[in-house]
Amino acid sequence: MAKFPEQLIRDDIRALSAYHVPESTGLLKLDAMENPHALPALLQAEIAQLVSRAAINRYPDPQASRLKARLREAMEIPLDMEIMLGNGSDELIQMIASAVAKPGASLLSVEPAFAMFRIIAACAGLRYESVQLNRDFTLDVEAVIAAINQYQPAVIFIAYPNNPTGNLFDREGLSRIIKAAPGLAVVDEAYHAFTDESFMPRLTDYPNLLVMRTLSKLGMAGLRLGFLAGRTEWITQLEKLRLPYNINVLTQTVAEKILQRMDVLLEQAREITSQRAKLFAELSALPGVQAYRSDANFILFRVSRADEVFKGLIQRGILIKNLNRSHPLLEDCLRVTVGTAQQNQQFILALTETLIP
Ligand SMILES: Cc1ncc(COP(=O)(O)O)c(C=O)c1O
Repeated sequence: MAKFPEQLIRDDIRALSAYHVPESTGLLKLDAMENPHALPALLQAEIAQLVSRAAINRYPDPQASRLKARLREAMEIPLDMEIMLGNGSDELIQMIASAVAKPGASLLSVEPAFAMFRIIAACAGLRYESVQLNRDFTLDVEAVIAAINQYQPAVIFIAYPNNPTGNLFDREGLSRIIKAAPGLAVVDEAYHAFTDESFMPRLTDYPNLLVMRTLSKLGMAGLRLGFLAGRTEWITQLEKLRLPYNINVLTQTVAEKILQRMDVLLEQAREITSQRAKLFAELSALPGVQAYRSDANFILFRVSRADEVFKGLIQRGILIKNLNRSHPLLEDCLRVTVGTAQQNQQFILALTETLIP
């Protein structure tokens, strides 16, 4: 007799809610930290040519060797470090979590942080432990070290810069945490393109460090490509969890091509960074708005009555992220992705109308 989900599905999975992606049809999408810029027309045409000839009847190169070579160059991955690819960095988090999920093992992060750390820990059957950030979103290094001593986490995930707060944590504090960790320490540099700081050159300094990045925020969110850089002894083990063809033919073909034009991507990232400064100034000038400095491609800000403001923006055709009630430190907080100059103007205008009707 067929079983019911209640009989078959693990209790902890049934207790979870799926990651919610809101409907965005017809809205200006400033909720998901996507790059708002298109590629130059010539590059688009070259990609179209490559895609039309791509061998989609064949399985992809399971090692994606050419793509990895391009990434190594474009992302300045140290020559003595290995690379592992994921179908988005989400998938890499999942593989790392599954790899260390011995009975009773835990994943430690800070809060508020990227929600997938917690969700993936739960799916992998890991205990999830977290340490609250300070009120100004800085890292409480002593509290993290105390939690490390208490929980002995198998893995620690820290986003640098952090999502959803946008700030970079203190470098020396983070180094102390990596050193104190009894297990793996993953520095998630999803927003690396918008800051000069990175732990990539410091991989050699820490035997337990992995640096994770994604191409999503650089303009390739639709391709789903993330990568992990770290020592061979770690990557060799983690590779066993990777499904053989996780990076499809089209992603390999297109990402390889676009990575040859890092100049275009970096110019777009520079434009986003300069728009971020303008947007921050404009947000800060609005009455009743407290904006937080960001090293990423989004800005967290606090208003009074965030739910109403969020709805008011949707009515004016703009979708951002409502973080109210997602964490006590984020009461009445909203997060906006930096768009083009024109999109940011549209957002500021709509926000002004919502705040001062
Ligand atoms: C800190 C952080 N890590 C990872 C990701 C996931 O990126 P990807 O698109 O590569 O799965 C995000 C996406 O928002 C993020 O904010």
